[in-house]
Amino acid sequence: MLEIKNAVAVITGSGSGIGKAAAKHWAARGGRLVLADIAKDNLKQVEEEIKEAGAECVSLVCDVTREEDTTALARLATERFEAVNLVLPFAGIIKDGLLLSPDKETGKVKKKMALSDFQKVVDINLTGVFLTVRECAEQMINTGSRGLICLISSTGAQGTAGQINYSSTKAAMSTMPRVITAELFRKGLADRIRCVAIAPGYVGTEMVKNMNQKALEGILENVPIQRLIEPEEVVSLITELYCNEALANDVYSINGGLRLGSRG
Ligand SMILES: NC(=O)c1ccc[n+]([C@@H]2O[C@H](COP(=O)([O-])OP(=O)(O)OC[C@H]3O[C@@H](n4cnc5c(N)ncnc54)[C@H](O)[C@@H]3O)[C@@H](O)[C@H]2O)c1
Repeated sequence: MLEIKNAVAVITGSGSGIGKAAAKHWAARGGRLVLADIAKDNLKQVEEEIKEAGAECVSLVCDVTREEDTTALARLATERFEAVNLVLPFAGIIKDGLLLSPDKETGKVKKKMALSDFQKVVDINLTGVFLTVRECAEQMINTGSRGLICLISSTGAQGTAGQINYSSTKAAMSTMPRVITAELFRKGLADRIRCVAIAPGYVGTEMVKNMNQKALEGILENVPIQRLIEPEEVVSLITELYCNEALANDVYSINGGLRLGSRG
């Protein structure tokens, strides 16, 4: 079992939601933190709260779609703390819409998902994760660090109507742990650097609060626990995944028993 005390976590998207909850949880257990977000004010606020609570913490305003930003982030971790033990590339967005919307009266297509709405989600949720993981894993290898890369997929990976962009990126997050684990295994590194993904259902963060509320009500009717998942519940799973080194390579669901209907 790995210890959290003094272990170094790099968390993107830590200005809000699950990333923020993960940062606070890590700090409360004596871990050290390297925080990143594109939203400067939120990021600084979280950094201050963590420092006030007595934990060691640095932050970097970072756009995960920019290669130089992710390189600087990973380097900051090792320059400051000489290790990277946990990587949570959690920066993410949604831009929901249908691929094609036919007009009710004419039956002809009146609206399409804009390329920019598809591309933006891919850039942040997929390319941003690729860059963050590549740069942080490089530092983990070069510093001889031991730990976990934990990606964040979603129940949306199974295919949610109105989310062709988001669902596609989350399906990729479910595949990446196997690719990364296989490559590390081939190079004799998989015993000290593990990679997993978690697949949450609907978690009560800004992302979900900003969703179409009617759609959200419909979704909650299919959740046996009858409520949104708390960010802290997701973080509790991440902690177990970090500490328990028998957990590797897989996708771990946390969704309150969500029943996905046949019409998504
Ligand atoms: N909330 C859910 O129900 C849910 C479910 C499954 C998976 N997830 C995933 O969890 C992750 C975190 O989501 P959340 O619910 O905490 O959302 P959130 O909106 O609360 O937090 C996302 C954070 O990412 C940051 N961000 C956005 N673009 C960025 C960029 N280019 N560079 C750096 N930071 C950027 C935002 O500023 C924000 O602070 C996302 O990957 C999301 O897809 C969320």
